[in-house]
Formats: sequence, C-alpha cells, structure tokens
Amino acid sequence: MSLLALATLLLSAALPSIASPYWTELSPANRDLFKRGSSTCGTGGVLSCTNTTAQNTCCFESPGGHLLQVQFWDTNPSTGPTNSWTIHGLWPDHCDETFDQFCDESRQYTDISGVCFFPSDFYRSYHLQILTAAGATDTLNFMNEFWKDQGGDDETFWEHEWGKHGTCMSTLVPSCLPKGSAAKAEAVDFFNTVVRLFQGLPTFTFLSSQGITPSSTATFTLSQLTSALKKASGFTPGLDCTSGVLNQITWYHELRGSVIDGTFVQIDAPQAGSCPSTGIKYPPKTGTTSTPPSGPSSTTTTGSQSPTGPPGSLPTKSTLSIFQSGSSSKTGGLLTAGTWSTQTPATYTISGSTSSLTLSTSKGKCQVSGGSLTCGSSVTTASTFSAVTSGSQLLIAFGGSTSFSSDGVPSGTVQETVFTGTGHSKAFSIVVDAA
Ligand SMILES: *[C@@H]1O[C@H](CO)[C@@H](O)[C@H](O)[C@H]1NC(C)=O
Repeated sequence: MSLLALATLLLSAALPSIASPYWTELSPANRDLFKRGSSTCGTGGVLSCTNTTAQNTCCFESPGGHLLQVQFWDTNPSTGPTNSWTIHGLWPDHCDETFDQFCDESRQYTDISGVCFFPSDFYRSYHLQILTAAGATDTLNFMNEFWKDQGGDDETFWEHEWGKHGTCMSTLVPSCLPKGSAAKAEAVDFFNTVVRLFQGLPTFTFLSSQGITPSSTATFTLSQLTSALKKASGFTPGLDCTSGVLNQITWYHELRGSVIDGTFVQIDAPQAGSCPSTGIKYPPKTGTTSTPPSGPSSTTTTGSQSPTGPPGSLPTKSTLSIFQSGSSSKTGGLLTAGTWSTQTPATYTISGSTSSLTLSTSKGKCQVSGGSLTCGSSVTTASTFSAVTSGSQLLIAFGGSTSFSSDGVPSGTVQETVFTGTGHSKAFSIVVDAA
C-alpha cells in the first residue's frame, strides 16, 4: 500500500468520529438535556409485575419487571475498595425469573467511557465517549472506583452489562425517550440509575452494622448472613457463593414508571442464590479502603449540639441532619413536618431504644405512610424506627433500612418530601446529630 493510500485510510477511519453526532453533544444545552435524564412517566403508575391489564411499556418495565441490582465481593483477585462491594449490574428479569438478553444488536455501544480502541492519541482526543459527552462525569468517576472488571477491562465489562441487560429494558427503548434526547441518552440513563441504586444498597455497611465483617478464618451460615442483611436493609437478598466463598449479592426491586426516574420498590428475593446453608466464607479483600459509597463518612463531625453521651448512645432530643449518598458533609436537615430543607432544622424528641424508637416534633408524632415521612397533629400512631451505628454516627432506620430518598435536593425555602428506601432520585441517610 502506498503512503498516500495509508494516510487516506487512516483519515477516513478518524473522520466518522470527528463528524459523529457526539461532537454536538458537547454544547451546554445538550449536556443539560443528558444530565436531567427525565422520562415523562412520573413516579406513580402500576408496579411492574403486578398489572392486571396491558400497560404502555415506555412507562411500565415489561417483560423484565424484576430489577436486580447485583453486586460482587471479589477477593481472588480483589477489585475495588476493601470496605465496599462493587457493582455487577442491573438486570431486568421476567416476573418468573427467566430473562432476555442482548435484546438490540444495534445498541451494543462500544464507547461507554473514554477507552479508545485505536492507538492514536490524535484519534483518542477526538473520540468523544458517551458518558463524558453527556456530562455524566460523576457517574463515570464512581464507576471507575466501584464498577470493576476482575481482568482490569472495565470498559468492556460495562459494554457487556449494557448490551446484555440494559438493551432489554422496555422503558429505555430510544423511542420512549423525550423528543430531542441525544443519541445514546438511554445508556447514560442506565448507568446513572445503576450507580444510584448501588449507592442506596451499601452491602458492606449493612453487614458490618450487624457485626459481620470479612475474616480469613470465620465461617457463617446462610441464615446468619441473610437475617443480618434483612435486619439492616429491610429486605432479603439472594446470595451467591463460589466454592463456599460469598461472592455475589442480588437485591431485587419492582418498579413504578421508567428505569430513568421511576420509583424502585425493594422486594424480598423471589429465589435463593447458590450459597450453601453452612460454612460460608467472607474473606477480606486486599487493597485500599475508600469512602463508603453510601452514607456519611465516619470521620465527619456533625450537628450543632454537643454530644450528650458516648458515641452511638440515643439522645432524647436532637436535630436530624441529611447526608446525601457518597457525601461526607450534611445538606440541611428535617423540619417539624418531617420534610427535608436547608432551613434551620427542628428539634426531634426521640423515645425508646436504638432497636425500637418513635419520633415527634412540636407539630406532633411522626409516621411513615404510603412510603413517606410526615409529622403532625393528625398522626395518631407514631411509626417505629430504629437507630443504627455507622462509624461514629447514629443513623435513623425504618424497616431496618437506613436508606431514604427524595425527588430533589432542597435549597432556599424549598422543602422535599422524605421517602423510605432508595426509590427516589436523591438517596441519603438521616443522622442523629446529638448522638
Ligand atoms: C401487563 O403489561 C404487559 C405490557 O403491556 C402486557 O404484555 C401483559 O399482558 C400485561 N399483563 C396483563 C395480565 O394484562
């Protein structure tokens, strides 16, 4: 081949990338469009797998109505931080646990991050990648730490998870997305949602809050592990083992609305995993620790009130602060009505013990009703909460889970409704400041 022919060939290989539609996605307007990632479905609607009539599958996940958030505990070799499980993926299983895979060959995207398949730096610098182009760098940074391939090829692993499972999600079919959505926006929505769900399911913290930490000598029974996880999270996951070593966990959900921004409702695992009933090992990882993916870091000092007892003891009065998932500083707290705001937080009266407590404010008793928190004079029966120690902090839990969420982050005079669980877009934990 002549030099000229070679040069022409190289140029034509590079050109489609430069002229690709992603180039235009760098404009701020398009980036914003990507980031918002909203469907037009709302967060209500029929719960997947429970419909009695046919539904619009853009807003009703079908046939994959069971959404499985799957995590790894990789020790041979180790991947990710030593104090966190890592992401395997989000799988849309049918309601009977059969599943489809590789549902759309035309959407097996191969440019999820910034990995370049050509050795040329020139090509690499113009090859704009889906998540980077979408401005989803927070998600990408998180994936780089917590979504790890054992062979070291994270990009290929992400492509595989998207191509095998993400393309089977009915609510992520491109024609379901709002008009004007950029090309491949549905894959960005997929990765954003997987990361958000994972952040609300801190398996390592759930286990350690119940006294179960990695050990090279101890063994556990399956019921020890599942009951600890149920107690900490409120739900029973599926646990998978390889040669008696715990190495995968599956957290099950059903969904109202779209994978993009619908309400994920946790359910108990409809089937057991592969772990034996006894003699299960949970060995330590080698590597470095990280800020836990969810909840406040243990080194954070919180609250304006001085401690009233040893760390973790239950005070009778306290403000309640909000720590967003992955953040080590607080963002406001709870007001008298049980809403989240950055205005001056209310003083809560706490009655009972860490294993069973009730909350009230100057407005009245607090309850969880229809999945959201309210305090007021109309509340006749206060709901039962518990308090869970995490590092040096005491977190409020409902149904054993310290995960709460809302539809937005408040500022100014805006108040956000607090929902139990991680089904809404902003996940956080509630910290007892005076503990
Ligand atoms: C539930 O909705 C899906 C999607 O529209 C449909 O295929 C299925 O038949 C529905 N189930 C019932 C019982 O109507």
